[in-house]
Amino acid sequence: MTDQADTVEAIRWQENKLQLLDQRVLPHEIAYLTYGDAHAVADAIRDMVVRGAPAIGITAAYGIVLAARACFAQSPVDWKRAIEADLQTLTASRPTAVNLFWAIERMREVIAGIEGDPEAALLAEARRIHDDDIAANRHMGELGAALIEAPCAILTHCNAGALATGGYGTALGVVRAGFAAGKITSVYADETRPWMQGARLTAWEMVQEGIPVTLQAEGAAAHLMKQGRVGWVIVGSDRITANGDVVNKIGTYGLAVLARHHGVKFMVVAPASTVDMSIACGDDVAIEQRSPDEVLYLAGQRIAAEGAEAWNPAFDVTPAALVDAIVTERGVVRNPDVEKMRAMMERA
Ligand code: MRU
Repeated sequence: MTDQADTVEAIRWQENKLQLLDQRVLPHEIAYLTYGDAHAVADAIRDMVVRGAPAIGITAAYGIVLAARACFAQSPVDWKRAIEADLQTLTASRPTAVNLFWAIERMREVIAGIEGDPEAALLAEARRIHDDDIAANRHMGELGAALIEAPCAILTHCNAGALATGGYGTALGVVRAGFAAGKITSVYADETRPWMQGARLTAWEMVQEGIPVTLQAEGAAAHLMKQGRVGWVIVGSDRITANGDVVNKIGTYGLAVLARHHGVKFMVVAPASTVDMSIACGDDVAIEQRSPDEVLYLAGQRIAAEGAEAWNPAFDVTPAALVDAIVTERGVVRNPDVEKMRAMMERA
């Protein structure tokens, strides 16, 4: 596994298998599940054992190592044709986070150049994707924290932390760096219905780090901002389109509207692998619809009236016009538009 991870590890490669920290049972249980099969890895992504855009991409990359091992064992001559079905299965696991497709494409490029046993080369590439993500997060942490002028509390949504990435986190990477620098005093975390990533995951990460964290129901955000309790909203992203629109966990758009109304700044932190310059604007991104049961039930217990239906889009689109800054490892884009996004992506 990577040398760089010094925060919680959502993903690790041990004894030639993939291990995923089961995020469905956190914070009550810390349990790693072991995977030796690419189809099971795809199921783990779909079922939210692992979640968060960069973490999904890294997981898929390790899944391809497992797929290549099995295909090569079965047919050393024909494994490149055989692995296609596994690549398709991984591609179909979740639709919105572009990091998944980006990582599969990177692995596909390595596959094209391999002769002989593919495992070592593919494992090296998966590790590189993993390590690069952690390095990007650390750099973004510094860049994002530098944007905060006066010490303040911040509000975050969902979980864009170590658990959602290779390590350290995107939005929570800025929190880690900003807290260490005295720029961020504390974190308000939306509990983030229906999966409760804020209550279960962000709160847990912050408590582990000794960073003061206060949970709130999403509906409290307007009141929080009106009272002047936060200086910034800081979130991650699952896909940023060419014009700077930001696709992120459902509820993010509402926070951006509220932030603009109340004079609170809005920062999006995501690696360049989350930027999709092939899509013009956020309305063109496929938004994952998840099971209504995730809304109707909580922890296996029905909470909604019998007979009620539920609508469960997992993500929404925040227009670029509501974003004050996009932070990537390639630099900061203030008031994003298509020219600024292109210039940032062209940087090394
Ligand atoms: O459904 P999830 O938990 O995978 O959604 C995750 C998010 O929306 C995160 O905010 C986003 O992926 C950024 S993670 C660094």
